[in-house]
Amino acid sequence: MPRPPNILWIGDATGHLQLLDQRQLPSCVVNLELRDVKGVYDAIRSLAVRGAPAIGVAAAYGLILAAQKIPAGEKTESAILRLQEAADFLNSSRPTAVNLSWSLRRCMTLLQKAPSVAVSKIGPMLLEEARAIHDEDARMCAKIARYGVQFVTPGAGVLTHCNTGYLAAGGDGTALAILYEAHRRGIPFRVFADETRPLLQGARLTTWELSQENIDVTLITDSMAAPVMAQRKVNVAIVGADRIAANGDTANKIGTYSVATLCHAHGIPFVVAAATSSFDLSLQSGDAIPIEQRDEREITRGFGSQTAPDGVAVYNPAFDVTPARLIHAIVTERGVVTPVTPENIRAVIEQNYN
Ligand code: MRU
Repeated sequence: MPRPPNILWIGDATGHLQLLDQRQLPSCVVNLELRDVKGVYDAIRSLAVRGAPAIGVAAAYGLILAAQKIPAGEKTESAILRLQEAADFLNSSRPTAVNLSWSLRRCMTLLQKAPSVAVSKIGPMLLEEARAIHDEDARMCAKIARYGVQFVTPGAGVLTHCNTGYLAAGGDGTALAILYEAHRRGIPFRVFADETRPLLQGARLTTWELSQENIDVTLITDSMAAPVMAQRKVNVAIVGADRIAANGDTANKIGTYSVATLCHAHGIPFVVAAATSSFDLSLQSGDAIPIEQRDEREITRGFGSQTAPDGVAVYNPAFDVTPARLIHAIVTERGVVTPVTPENIRAVIEQNYN
Protein backbone atom coordinates (compact mmCIF):
# COMPACT_ATOMS: atom_id res chain seq x y z
CA MET A 1 0.00 0.00 0.00
CA PRO A 2 1.46 3.44 -0.88
CA ARG A 3 2.31 5.45 2.21
CA PRO A 4 0.13 8.50 2.85
CA PRO A 5 1.99 11.73 1.96
CA ASN A 6 3.21 13.68 4.99
CA ILE A 7 3.29 17.09 3.26
CA LEU A 8 1.31 17.91 0.12
CA TRP A 9 0.54 21.21 -1.53
CA ILE A 10 -2.85 20.96 -3.24
CA GLY A 11 -3.40 23.02 -6.41
CA ASP A 12 -1.63 26.10 -7.74
CA ALA A 13 -0.49 29.14 -5.73
CA THR A 14 -4.12 29.75 -4.74
CA GLY A 15 -4.31 26.24 -3.24
CA HIS A 16 -3.70 24.95 0.28
CA LEU A 17 -1.39 22.78 2.39
CA GLN A 18 -2.29 19.24 3.41
CA LEU A 19 -0.36 17.69 6.30
CA LEU A 20 -0.63 14.17 7.67
CA ASP A 21 -1.44 14.76 11.34
CA GLN A 22 1.40 12.90 13.08
CA ARG A 23 -0.20 13.48 16.50
CA GLN A 24 -2.87 10.94 15.56
CA LEU A 25 -0.51 8.18 14.44
CA PRO A 26 -0.45 5.23 14.64
CA SER A 27 -4.13 4.88 15.50
CA CYS A 28 -5.59 7.22 12.84
CA VAL A 29 -4.41 8.38 9.44
CA VAL A 30 -5.93 11.86 9.29
CA ASN A 31 -4.99 14.91 7.23
CA LEU A 32 -5.04 18.56 8.23
CA GLU A 33 -6.12 20.99 5.49
CA LEU A 34 -4.39 24.30 6.20
CA ARG A 35 -5.34 27.62 4.63
CA ASP A 36 -3.56 30.19 6.79
CA VAL A 37 -0.19 30.84 8.39
CA LYS A 38 -1.52 30.45 11.93
CA GLY A 39 -2.67 26.94 11.06
CA VAL A 40 0.83 26.04 9.82
CA TYR A 41 2.43 27.63 12.92
CA ASP A 42 0.13 25.59 15.17
CA ALA A 43 0.80 22.39 13.23
CA ILE A 44 4.56 22.83 13.62
CA ARG A 45 4.37 23.94 17.26
CA SER A 46 2.09 21.03 18.25
CA LEU A 47 4.13 18.45 16.26
CA ALA A 48 1.35 17.62 13.80
CA VAL A 49 4.26 17.98 11.39
CA ARG A 50 7.68 17.37 12.90
CA GLY A 51 11.24 16.35 12.14
CA ALA A 52 13.80 18.97 11.16
CA PRO A 53 13.63 18.72 7.35
CA ALA A 54 9.81 18.35 7.33
CA ILE A 55 9.18 21.51 9.33
CA GLY A 56 11.45 23.43 6.93
CA VAL A 57 9.41 22.18 3.97
CA ALA A 58 6.05 22.84 5.67
CA ALA A 59 7.06 26.39 6.62
CA ALA A 60 8.09 27.17 3.03
CA TYR A 61 4.59 26.16 1.86
CA GLY A 62 3.16 28.16 4.77
CA LEU A 63 4.59 31.37 3.29
CA ILE A 64 2.43 30.87 0.18
CA LEU A 65 -0.65 30.98 2.42
CA ALA A 66 0.61 34.33 3.74
CA ALA A 67 1.09 35.58 0.18
CA GLN A 68 -2.53 34.67 -0.65
CA LYS A 69 -3.74 37.18 1.96
CA ILE A 70 -1.88 40.17 0.45
CA PRO A 71 -4.40 42.63 -1.03
CA ALA A 72 -4.18 43.00 -4.84
CA GLY A 73 -3.24 46.70 -4.77
CA GLU A 74 -0.40 46.34 -2.25
CA LYS A 75 3.07 47.62 -3.23
CA THR A 76 5.76 44.93 -3.64
CA GLU A 77 7.93 46.46 -0.93
CA SER A 78 5.21 46.33 1.72
CA ALA A 79 4.10 42.88 0.51
CA ILE A 80 7.64 41.62 1.15
CA LEU A 81 7.59 43.22 4.62
CA ARG A 82 4.32 41.44 5.40
CA LEU A 83 5.83 38.16 4.25
CA GLN A 84 8.91 38.76 6.41
CA GLU A 85 6.57 39.10 9.40
CA ALA A 86 4.91 35.80 8.46
CA ALA A 87 8.33 34.17 8.07
CA ASP A 88 9.42 35.46 11.50
CA PHE A 89 6.19 34.14 13.00
CA LEU A 90 6.64 30.69 11.44
CA ASN A 91 10.28 30.66 12.50
CA SER A 92 9.27 31.26 16.12
CA SER A 93 7.24 28.03 16.21
CA ARG A 94 10.23 25.84 17.13
CA PRO A 95 13.74 27.09 17.95
CA THR A 96 16.12 24.12 17.71
CA ALA A 97 15.91 22.67 14.19
CA VAL A 98 17.86 25.04 11.95
CA ASN A 99 16.12 23.76 8.78
CA LEU A 100 13.16 25.97 9.67
CA SER A 101 15.08 29.27 9.53
CA TRP A 102 17.18 27.95 6.63
CA SER A 103 14.18 27.32 4.37
CA LEU A 104 12.33 30.53 5.35
CA ARG A 105 15.48 32.58 4.74
CA ARG A 106 15.89 30.93 1.36
CA CYS A 107 12.34 31.92 0.33
CA MET A 108 12.68 35.48 1.63
CA THR A 109 16.08 35.97 -0.04
CA LEU A 110 14.47 35.01 -3.34
CA LEU A 111 11.85 37.76 -2.90
CA GLN A 112 14.37 40.34 -1.70
CA LYS A 113 16.34 39.74 -4.88
CA ALA A 114 13.22 40.58 -6.91
CA PRO A 115 12.06 43.89 -5.39
CA SER A 116 10.12 44.92 -8.49
CA VAL A 117 8.24 41.66 -9.08
CA ALA A 118 4.46 42.09 -9.47
CA VAL A 119 2.59 41.19 -6.27
CA SER A 120 0.51 38.70 -8.26
CA LYS A 121 3.70 36.78 -9.10
CA ILE A 122 4.87 36.36 -5.48
CA GLY A 123 2.64 33.37 -4.71
CA PRO A 124 3.75 31.41 -7.81
CA MET A 125 7.41 32.27 -7.07
CA LEU A 126 7.07 31.00 -3.50
CA LEU A 127 5.32 27.85 -4.67
CA GLU A 128 8.14 27.10 -7.08
CA GLU A 129 10.72 27.64 -4.33
CA ALA A 130 8.81 25.54 -1.78
CA ARG A 131 8.53 22.70 -4.30
CA ALA A 132 12.27 23.02 -5.01
CA ILE A 133 13.09 22.80 -1.27
CA HIS A 134 10.77 19.78 -0.98
CA ASP A 135 12.27 17.99 -4.03
CA GLU A 136 15.85 18.80 -3.03
CA ASP A 137 15.23 17.38 0.41
CA ALA A 138 13.95 14.15 -1.15
CA ARG A 139 17.11 13.92 -3.26
CA MET A 140 19.31 14.66 -0.22
CA CYS A 141 17.61 11.83 1.67
CA ALA A 142 18.37 9.42 -1.18
CA LYS A 143 22.04 10.45 -1.20
CA ILE A 144 22.35 10.18 2.58
CA ALA A 145 20.92 6.67 2.25
CA ARG A 146 23.53 5.66 -0.30
CA TYR A 147 26.46 7.08 1.70
CA GLY A 148 25.16 5.66 4.98
CA VAL A 149 24.29 2.12 3.94
CA GLN A 150 27.91 1.04 4.63
CA PHE A 151 27.09 1.26 8.36
CA VAL A 152 24.46 -1.50 8.13
CA THR A 153 26.40 -4.73 7.87
CA PRO A 154 24.68 -8.08 7.23
CA GLY A 155 23.10 -9.37 10.43
CA ALA A 156 23.54 -6.03 12.24
CA GLY A 157 21.45 -4.78 15.12
CA VAL A 158 20.75 -1.07 14.59
CA LEU A 159 19.49 1.14 17.38
CA THR A 160 17.67 4.34 16.49
CA HIS A 161 16.06 7.14 18.47
CA CYS A 162 13.04 9.34 17.72
CA ASN A 163 11.64 9.32 14.17
CA THR A 164 13.88 10.17 11.23
CA GLY A 165 11.92 8.57 8.41
CA TYR A 166 9.66 9.77 5.62
CA LEU A 167 7.34 11.40 8.16
CA ALA A 168 10.19 13.67 9.24
CA ALA A 169 11.49 14.78 5.84
CA GLY A 170 10.80 15.58 2.21
CA GLY A 171 11.96 12.13 1.07
CA ASP A 172 12.74 8.88 2.88
CA GLY A 173 14.28 10.67 5.88
CA THR A 174 17.82 10.57 7.22
CA ALA A 175 18.74 7.73 9.60
CA LEU A 176 15.73 5.68 8.49
CA ALA A 177 16.49 6.37 4.82
CA ILE A 178 19.72 4.43 5.39
CA LEU A 179 17.69 1.54 6.78
CA TYR A 180 15.25 1.65 3.84
CA GLU A 181 18.24 1.53 1.48
CA ALA A 182 19.78 -1.43 3.32
CA HIS A 183 16.42 -3.22 3.15
CA ARG A 184 16.09 -2.56 -0.59
CA ARG A 185 19.57 -4.03 -1.06
CA GLY A 186 18.51 -7.20 0.73
CA ILE A 187 20.89 -6.72 3.67
CA PRO A 188 19.44 -8.56 6.69
CA PHE A 189 19.36 -6.44 9.87
CA ARG A 190 17.24 -5.82 12.91
CA VAL A 191 16.20 -2.43 14.30
CA PHE A 192 15.78 -1.53 17.97
CA ALA A 193 13.58 1.56 18.14
CA ASP A 194 13.76 3.58 21.36
CA GLU A 195 10.23 4.62 22.32
CA THR A 196 11.53 8.21 22.77
CA ARG A 197 9.87 9.74 25.79
CA PRO A 198 7.91 11.82 26.38
CA LEU A 199 6.10 12.09 23.01
CA LEU A 200 6.94 8.58 21.81
CA GLN A 201 8.00 9.38 18.26
CA GLY A 202 9.91 6.09 18.22
CA ALA A 203 6.98 4.00 19.42
CA ARG A 204 4.22 5.76 17.51
CA LEU A 205 6.00 6.72 14.28
CA THR A 206 9.23 4.78 13.69
CA THR A 207 7.77 1.34 14.36
CA TRP A 208 4.72 2.30 12.24
CA GLU A 209 6.91 3.33 9.31
CA LEU A 210 9.29 0.39 9.48
CA SER A 211 6.57 -2.23 9.98
CA GLN A 212 4.78 -1.01 6.87
CA GLU A 213 7.96 -1.73 4.90
CA ASN A 214 8.34 -5.15 6.57
CA ILE A 215 11.59 -4.12 8.26
CA ASP A 216 12.37 -6.17 11.36
CA VAL A 217 11.80 -3.69 14.21
CA THR A 218 11.65 -4.22 17.96
CA LEU A 219 10.34 -1.47 20.22
CA ILE A 220 12.26 -0.87 23.46
CA THR A 221 11.80 1.69 26.21
CA ASP A 222 14.55 4.30 26.32
CA SER A 223 15.94 2.75 29.49
CA MET A 224 16.38 -0.62 27.70
CA ALA A 225 19.13 0.71 25.42
CA ALA A 226 21.94 -0.09 27.89
CA PRO A 227 21.05 -3.75 28.50
CA VAL A 228 20.36 -4.35 24.81
CA MET A 229 23.85 -3.04 24.04
CA ALA A 230 25.39 -5.07 26.87
CA GLN A 231 23.72 -8.17 25.40
CA ARG A 232 25.61 -7.40 22.15
CA LYS A 233 22.41 -7.04 20.17
CA VAL A 234 23.40 -3.63 18.78
CA ASN A 235 26.26 -3.08 16.31
CA VAL A 236 25.59 0.54 15.44
CA ALA A 237 23.32 3.41 16.50
CA ILE A 238 22.08 5.73 13.75
CA VAL A 239 20.14 8.90 14.59
CA GLY A 240 19.16 12.18 12.93
CA ALA A 241 19.94 15.79 13.83
CA ASP A 242 18.12 19.06 14.36
CA ARG A 243 21.17 21.31 14.32
CA ILE A 244 24.88 20.57 14.00
CA ALA A 245 27.42 23.18 15.11
CA ALA A 246 30.68 23.90 13.27
CA ASN A 247 32.61 21.53 15.58
CA GLY A 248 30.14 18.65 15.05
CA ASP A 249 28.25 18.93 18.33
CA THR A 250 24.77 17.71 17.42
CA ALA A 251 21.37 18.65 18.81
CA ASN A 252 18.78 15.93 18.40
CA LYS A 253 15.79 14.55 20.28
CA ILE A 254 16.19 14.39 24.05
CA GLY A 255 17.77 11.05 24.93
CA THR A 256 20.18 11.05 21.99
CA TYR A 257 23.12 12.08 24.20
CA SER A 258 22.36 9.12 26.48
CA VAL A 259 22.43 6.77 23.47
CA ALA A 260 25.79 8.23 22.35
CA THR A 261 27.23 7.85 25.86
CA LEU A 262 26.04 4.24 26.02
CA CYS A 263 27.55 3.53 22.61
CA HIS A 264 30.86 4.95 23.82
CA ALA A 265 30.73 2.76 26.93
CA HIS A 266 30.06 -0.36 24.83
CA GLY A 267 32.43 0.39 21.93
CA ILE A 268 29.58 0.76 19.43
CA PRO A 269 29.82 3.34 16.61
CA PHE A 270 27.36 6.20 17.00
CA VAL A 271 26.41 7.67 13.61
CA VAL A 272 24.46 10.84 12.82
CA ALA A 273 22.64 11.18 9.47
CA ALA A 274 21.68 14.70 8.38
CA ALA A 275 21.37 16.90 5.34
CA THR A 276 23.76 19.85 5.12
CA SER A 277 20.70 22.09 5.70
CA SER A 278 20.86 20.86 9.33
CA PHE A 279 24.34 22.35 9.87
CA ASP A 280 24.73 25.77 11.45
CA LEU A 281 28.33 26.77 10.87
CA SER A 282 27.69 30.14 12.51
CA LEU A 283 27.77 28.34 15.86
CA GLN A 284 31.22 27.24 16.99
CA SER A 285 29.91 24.59 19.38
CA GLY A 286 26.74 22.98 20.67
CA ASP A 287 26.68 25.29 23.70
CA ALA A 288 25.14 27.98 21.49
CA ILE A 289 22.31 25.81 20.11
CA PRO A 290 18.94 27.02 21.42
CA ILE A 291 17.12 24.16 23.11
CA GLU A 292 13.34 24.14 22.98
CA GLN A 293 11.61 23.80 26.36
CA ARG A 294 8.18 22.21 26.09
CA ASP A 295 5.03 22.13 28.15
CA GLU A 296 5.38 20.21 31.42
CA ARG A 297 2.05 18.49 30.73
CA GLU A 298 3.82 16.35 28.10
CA ILE A 299 5.34 14.62 31.14
CA THR A 300 2.74 15.08 33.87
CA ARG A 301 -0.29 14.35 31.66
CA GLY A 302 1.23 12.15 28.99
CA PHE A 303 -1.38 11.52 26.29
CA GLY A 304 -4.15 12.72 28.57
CA SER A 305 -3.68 10.61 31.72
CA GLN A 306 -2.14 11.88 34.93
CA THR A 307 1.39 10.51 35.20
CA ALA A 308 2.78 12.73 37.99
CA PRO A 309 1.33 14.49 41.03
CA ASP A 310 -0.15 17.96 40.51
CA GLY A 311 2.29 20.79 41.08
CA VAL A 312 5.51 18.75 40.75
CA ALA A 313 8.45 20.68 39.24
CA VAL A 314 9.23 19.49 35.71
CA TYR A 315 12.16 20.01 33.35
CA ASN A 316 11.21 19.17 29.77
CA PRO A 317 13.81 20.12 27.14
CA ALA A 318 12.85 18.64 23.76
CA PHE A 319 16.46 18.19 22.60
CA ASP A 320 19.94 17.54 23.93
CA VAL A 321 23.39 18.06 22.47
CA THR A 322 25.74 15.16 21.80
CA PRO A 323 29.38 16.27 21.85
CA ALA A 324 31.30 15.66 18.63
CA ARG A 325 33.83 13.45 20.44
CA LEU A 326 31.11 10.78 20.87
CA ILE A 327 30.14 10.77 17.18
CA HIS A 328 31.89 8.26 14.94
CA ALA A 329 30.58 9.74 11.68
CA ILE A 330 28.12 12.24 10.26
CA VAL A 331 26.53 11.06 7.02
CA THR A 332 25.42 13.90 4.72
CA GLU A 333 24.24 14.06 1.11
CA ARG A 334 27.74 15.28 0.21
CA GLY A 335 29.66 12.47 1.86
CA VAL A 336 30.65 11.11 5.26
CA VAL A 337 32.43 13.23 7.88
CA THR A 338 34.75 11.01 9.92
CA PRO A 339 36.48 11.67 12.20
CA VAL A 340 34.16 14.50 13.20
CA THR A 341 36.35 17.62 13.27
CA PRO A 342 35.62 21.23 12.23
CA GLU A 343 38.05 20.84 9.31
CA ASN A 344 36.45 17.65 8.01
CA ILE A 345 32.97 19.17 8.34
CA ARG A 346 33.97 22.23 6.28
CA ALA A 347 35.71 20.04 3.70
CA VAL A 348 32.57 17.94 3.12
CA ILE A 349 30.11 20.83 3.20
CA GLU A 350 32.08 23.22 1.03
CA GLN A 351 33.03 20.83 -1.73
CA ASN A 352 31.52 21.35 -5.17
CA TYR A 353 28.21 19.60 -5.29
CA ASN A 354 25.50 18.92 -7.84
O1 MRU B 1 10.54 17.00 18.24
P1 MRU B 1 10.69 16.30 16.93
O2 MRU B 1 9.86 15.08 16.81
O3 MRU B 1 10.51 17.25 15.77
O4 MRU B 1 12.22 15.84 16.92
C1 MRU B 1 12.71 15.23 15.75
C2 MRU B 1 14.11 14.76 15.89
O5 MRU B 1 14.76 14.97 16.88
C3 MRU B 1 14.70 14.06 14.70
O6 MRU B 1 15.65 13.13 15.12
C4 MRU B 1 15.39 15.10 13.81
O7 MRU B 1 14.53 16.16 13.51
C5 MRU B 1 15.88 14.51 12.54
S1 MRU B 1 14.55 14.09 11.44
C6 MRU B 1 15.16 13.57 9.96
